Amino acid sequence: MLNFTMNNQKRIPAIAFGTWRLPDCPETVQTILNAIREGYRSIDTAAKYGNERSVGAAIRQSPVAREELFIATKLRNTQRGYDSTLRDFDRALTEMGLEYIDLYMIHWPASADFYDNWEQINADTWRAMERLHDEGLIRSLGVSNFTQRYLDALKKTANIAPAVNQISLHPGIYQNQQSLIEYCTGHGYLLTAYSPLGAGAVLQSDSICSIAEKYGKSPAQICLKWCLQHGIIPLPKSSTVERMRQNLDLFDFTLDKEDMHLIDHMANLGSEPRNPDNCDFD
Ligand code: A2P
Repeated sequence: MLNFTMNNQKRIPAIAFGTWRLPDCPETVQTILNAIREGYRSIDTAAKYGNERSVGAAIRQSPVAREELFIATKLRNTQRGYDSTLRDFDRALTEMGLEYIDLYMIHWPASADFYDNWEQINADTWRAMERLHDEGLIRSLGVSNFTQRYLDALKKTANIAPAVNQISLHPGIYQNQQSLIEYCTGHGYLLTAYSPLGAGAVLQSDSICSIAEKYGKSPAQICLKWCLQHGIIPLPKSSTVERMRQNLDLFDFTLDKEDMHLIDHMANLGSEPRNPDNCDFD
């Protein structure tokens, strides 16, 4: 598996297996074991997904050594703040049955529209994460769904820069995210993309299908390769082994400049990214 290097010089696999919507049950343990068997070395979950137990069980059952795997999870939004972050991280680690997490993220910033003290909440949350990092329980710190406003605010008090910002990205919304992508890249924050297949509409798009035909690849492979060529880590999820395999099989072709440009400028497709300024969830 190809790796990218984060701003803390640690390595992160170039493709991650996403687990959003996978329930906490034995089938999910098997799905993740299948993904690891197929070659995924990076698994992305979140307290909010409710499946940390199953992810942890799969990691413990897997024949692949723990240090070969890269495990990411995210703080539940109801648990932001210094003490509650420490507590909820401890819960996650215990439920997963792991000794450390490779990447721990704030799932969604405390929003300026919903909290008067949003800067303080995010700063306190980050300070707790820095403590867990210094104690060796978290290897890298990250954020998710942070726009420039929230990244700028965090920078004022953070001692450790975020290594990663996980955002919603797929063909058809590049132009909405372009300034954020450029900002993150300029500041050394690696981007990871959730919903990289845009669930549905994007895979049916005529432009994506004709590019797929040209390269003899599937529409999903075009979406994922497009992310990688932007230096962005895609997090595809699939319950079928055939698609898991297909979503890793991206290294025998390169999208040319014209096709990258075409995909970058595709008209809006799939769901628009939500903005933390006007959206909050638990
Ligand atoms: P399935 O689990 O049946 O494979 P996203 O990551 O953008 O949210 O998209 C996930 C959806 O895309 C899932 O419904 C998954 O369905 C489907 N999917 C994953 N990989 C592929 C693929 N290679 N081709 C078509 N659909 C895919």
